[in-house]
Amino acid sequence: MNKLLILMTGLISLLGFGAQAKPIALLGAMDVEIEGLLPKMQGLQTHKLAANTYYTGTINGKSVVVARSGVGKVNAAVTTHTLISRFEVDKIIFTGIAGAASSTLNVADVVVSDDLIQHDVDLTVFGSPKGLLDGYDNRAFRSDEALQQLAIAAARKVVGDKRVHTGTVVTGDQFIADKAVVAGLQQEFNAMAVEMEGAAVAQVADMYQVPVVVIRTISDKADGSAHLSYEEAKSATAHNSVAIVLEMLQSL
Ligand code: ADE
Repeated sequence: MNKLLILMTGLISLLGFGAQAKPIALLGAMDVEIEGLLPKMQGLQTHKLAANTYYTGTINGKSVVVARSGVGKVNAAVTTHTLISRFEVDKIIFTGIAGAASSTLNVADVVVSDDLIQHDVDLTVFGSPKGLLDGYDNRAFRSDEALQQLAIAAARKVVGDKRVHTGTVVTGDQFIADKAVVAGLQQEFNAMAVEMEGAAVAQVADMYQVPVVVIRTISDKADGSAHLSYEEAKSATAHNSVAIVLEMLQSL
């Protein structure tokens, strides 16, 4: 009898019945980048940890943890670590805005990360290429291919094929607002977009082998007028990325 029970339980879990799906992390740096997700959540609960609030619940029946990391690489790394170690998320989707690093991009275009590099890592004096961290063979952290494809498909549905791009997203603890600096990032890293969290999230996710993708709508061209364009476009472009994440959740 006991053996039969064990066999049945094994079969049930093998078929996936009763298994609790692990939550998907939906992460943004600023309130404006996640505020569009909160009204879509059912069973919303808030959890305060360190300086941050994490929101658990479901969106369309999918278990999610929504979090706002704060701006910059340290905030992004701490929040990603918490999402993985405390909330046991098994995928991370970063939603937000970025500066264009490629001159072919316009405000409101969407960049889905192919890979992510920390552009402000500099051990060149020891002979390392720019962006390469000590102990790593590659300066680029790859996005998960399945998540990347889902994000591209969702973005195309939301904004149309022509405005969706995929490429290298570069991250550093600086708001880039200088034409020469952004041209340098494009040249050095073949960068498509520049922001302040993505590669830090990707590095922590890589440590735990958790799949990740970054979705960024362009808010500015990272040039002399970047701060003005950013302020003007911040809300609409952040909400655009949220719309893409919500579309993506339909297929996850
Ligand atoms: N996020 C949005 N625009 C940015 C810029 N120009 N530099 C860094 N992060 C950004």
